Amino acid sequence: MFTAMTFQDNHLRLIDQRHLPHQEVWVQAEHLHQIAEAIENMTVRGAPAIATAAAFALVLDAQQAKAKAWADYAADFDRNCERLHATRPTAVNLANALRSVKALAAKFAPQQTMQVTVEKLLTFAKELEHADLTTCRAIGQHGAAAQQGQKLRVMTHCNTGSLATAGYGTALGVIRALHSEGRVEHVYVDETRPYLQGSRLTAFELQAEGIPYSIQTDSAAAYLMRYEHVDFVVVGADRIAANGDTANKVGTYSLAIVAKHHGVPFYVAAPLSTFDLKTPDGEAIPIEMRSPLEVTQHAGHAVAPYGADARNPSFDVTPAELIAGIITEHGVIRPPFTESIRKLFTKMKSES
Ligand code: MRU
Repeated sequence: MFTAMTFQDNHLRLIDQRHLPHQEVWVQAEHLHQIAEAIENMTVRGAPAIATAAAFALVLDAQQAKAKAWADYAADFDRNCERLHATRPTAVNLANALRSVKALAAKFAPQQTMQVTVEKLLTFAKELEHADLTTCRAIGQHGAAAQQGQKLRVMTHCNTGSLATAGYGTALGVIRALHSEGRVEHVYVDETRPYLQGSRLTAFELQAEGIPYSIQTDSAAAYLMRYEHVDFVVVGADRIAANGDTANKVGTYSLAIVAKHHGVPFYVAAPLSTFDLKTPDGEAIPIEMRSPLEVTQHAGHAVAPYGADARNPSFDVTPAELIAGIITEHGVIRPPFTESIRKLFTKMKSES
């Protein structure tokens, strides 16, 4: 199973996902600005993975600081958090991780040496990575348990696997768990225009594990649901609002509409760190607009008239009413989501 990154003493190694599946290129990032750029240009991508990369970026910068006391470094730290926060606005895992790191620094820095605080940041980043892996496995187990049937045909969108997380994956984690039980007959993989996370990355992960799959263009999903049997759809998420509206890779919304029309249950698989209870509904989720060139060019070749304009929203929002269940590390929650999400978070708070 591939990992998106590995942290070593003074640098973060990232697999450059822009070159997959045919070239395995690793980049070595030694400075925070390199990691911020790697997140922006999608060398590393996927909501949990970018949160982890950002946490390690903060560690690297703090390790390199000349300041002897945190107070002399605090302004740089705040600027670093802002820089990382601005890289990709939709995935809330990043914002949640930055908030936790800031709280940690605020707690320890006043009484501790710079060195101890930096060690705390490192421990936090490593724990974030470790917890993500454990979380993904739990999502996989809950997602597999929620499905009836021995020979399942499942459709997915984008890449939610070990490349997008600390390993195993969310929606792809559900597929992995089902496969380990011998219950996957076929995976339908949306190619996921324009960045092709489906055909380049998800297909790559499925192929490496011998999970049977085929790729379809995003617009072929409706045809396949009509003429081939699909048991359920499972996708990941970048931000889930308090009412269950879910932002995920562009094309998810149309896939959910198509699934509803064909009576195919549509599931979202995501950790609690992807929920944003401060955002009441999908209308309030910021949607990242990326360069038109990602649409008008492919691998550096023009696929539209020179100078053509293009709209390139990187995400869309699937309304909660199209979602059959949200698979979390604590189980599957069902509609009505405003209530089930509130209940889950209240329970988690009372247990912590
Ligand atoms: O633009 P990307 O590739 O970062 O978008 C990724 C997705 O939309 C994933 O579905 C989401 O981040 C969940 S990854 C476990």
